[in-house]
Amino acid sequence: MLLVTGATGHLGGAVVSFLLKKIPASEIAVLARDAAKASKLKEQGVDVRIGDYHNSESMEKAFQGVDTLLLISSSDFNDRLGQHKRAVDAAKKAGVQHIIYTGVTMKDYQKSAIAEFMGQHFATEDYIKESGITYTFFRNGLYADVLPMFIGQDPATTGVFIPAGEGKVGFVVREDIAEALANVLTSTGHENKTYPITGSALYSYADVAAILSEIYGKTVPYISPDQPTFFAALKEAGVPEMYIGVTYGFADATKHHHFEELDPTLEKLLGRKPLSLDVYLKSVYGK
Ligand SMILES: NC(=O)c1ccc[n+]([C@@H]2O[C@H](COP(=O)([O-])OP(=O)(O)OC[C@H]3O[C@@H](n4cnc5c(N)ncnc54)[C@H](OP(=O)(O)O)[C@@H]3O)[C@@H](O)[C@H]2O)c1
Repeated sequence: MLLVTGATGHLGGAVVSFLLKKIPASEIAVLARDAAKASKLKEQGVDVRIGDYHNSESMEKAFQGVDTLLLISSSDFNDRLGQHKRAVDAAKKAGVQHIIYTGVTMKDYQKSAIAEFMGQHFATEDYIKESGITYTFFRNGLYADVLPMFIGQDPATTGVFIPAGEGKVGFVVREDIAEALANVLTSTGHENKTYPITGSALYSYADVAAILSEIYGKTVPYISPDQPTFFAALKEAGVPEMYIGVTYGFADATKHHHFEELDPTLEKLLGRKPLSLDVYLKSVYGK
């Protein structure tokens, strides 16, 4: 039995969709903290088990009979490492044989503005290794899907306004990661492997602006403001302070080239080229 956590979210949900095309629903379980959110999966025949990363007992129960666990990193930042550790401990108690964990790929992350935040992923990987359970680490690059959050819904009016300098990113589309995860979950040879998962080209935010200029048929400028200007503009636009800080941290890490990584693993796992950023941006902004 496979169990996918985070299946009520974007990545986990997409993984289950791909799995349902490959194996019977009766071989798939998910962990959900809210049964109502997983009702569609239940209708499709998926075994919905209720549990929360904050609650060890719930996970020990939910992981019974599970051989392979896809542990999607938590989106709840309150004691995130503790949540992951509890999930690993529960997996060990329940006799899970293999954990696939979705972390992050970054160059020299310790020197970045988001070192503490990203360090939780690497600490989780260490904890899984120490558990002795067979692992596969998906070190995901920055999702292309976060771009609309970073540059807004209307870049034709606002321009691409983000303090990322000339830094580049190997943006990867979340759907591609999900398909690759489903492929790994249904095949062998991934035991104790670490996979950097990136798109197949690097893009600066000037490149993003150039693609958007093509899509809109007019020049979309790229503006890389200093920190006070960025904070003031987003505050005026009503963006919550915590969110401004997170966006700035990711932009600053980009500016300092921490996301400048390309790796062919995703293409190998998919058996085709990953989706390009042009195609992704057209799907979002080209309507
Ligand atoms: N590489 C990147 O660029 C990037 C960008 C964004 C996020 N991420 C990471 O990748 C993960 C997956 O991305 P996503 O887009 O699928 O995120 P998402 O849509 O926010 O989904 C997160 C999932 O985690 C579940 N979850 C949160 N807290 C939990 C808890 N305490 N116990 C059990 N489940 C819990 C959520 O359940 P509910 O539905 O009940 O909330 C949801 O199913 C995120 O959680 C985050 O760690 C990476």
